[in-house]
Amino acid sequence: MTKVLFVCLGNICRSPTAEAVFRKQAKEARLKVEIDSAGTIASHQGEQPDSRSMKHGKMRGYDFTGQFSRKVKQSDFQYFDHIFAMDNSNYHDLLSMCAQEYQHKVQLFLAPLGLKDPQVPDPYFDGEDGFEQVLDLVEKASAALITRLQSPD
Ligand code: 4NP
Repeated sequence: MTKVLFVCLGNICRSPTAEAVFRKQAKEARLKVEIDSAGTIASHQGEQPDSRSMKHGKMRGYDFTGQFSRKVKQSDFQYFDHIFAMDNSNYHDLLSMCAQEYQHKVQLFLAPLGLKDPQVPDPYFDGEDGFEQVLDLVEKASAALITRLQSPD
């Protein structure tokens, strides 16, 4: 089974949203995947996703049950097949933590969308619109990932 990890800074806004969205899309596509999310920092360790992420996500039918913030750990790089960073900072932090042999697993989640700036903006310090924008981007990138995982290499 393919194993996918979504990573942002605090693991309370963007990567939990990616986890919830991709979980629903994968289920609907009958794709067998193991899905988790983590942060590059431990400041929110053990916390549930941000209430604003859950509010906006639930409005679109996503389920955040059982999600609690955790920090990326070394064994993640070996365990997961794909590790998706939400922004450039997460991407570079992941590469700096990751042994050379696993660096090919780390990618920007939005890379397949062909955007000029393929990053999911951090909504934490912004208004409610930011959480809707996270959902819009994550839904598109999740759909692209489903297609990629469904097509043989
Ligand atoms: P996330 O958002 O990386 O999408 O979970 C943030 C969460 C917490 C903080 C920053 C961004 N923080 O500074 O605590």
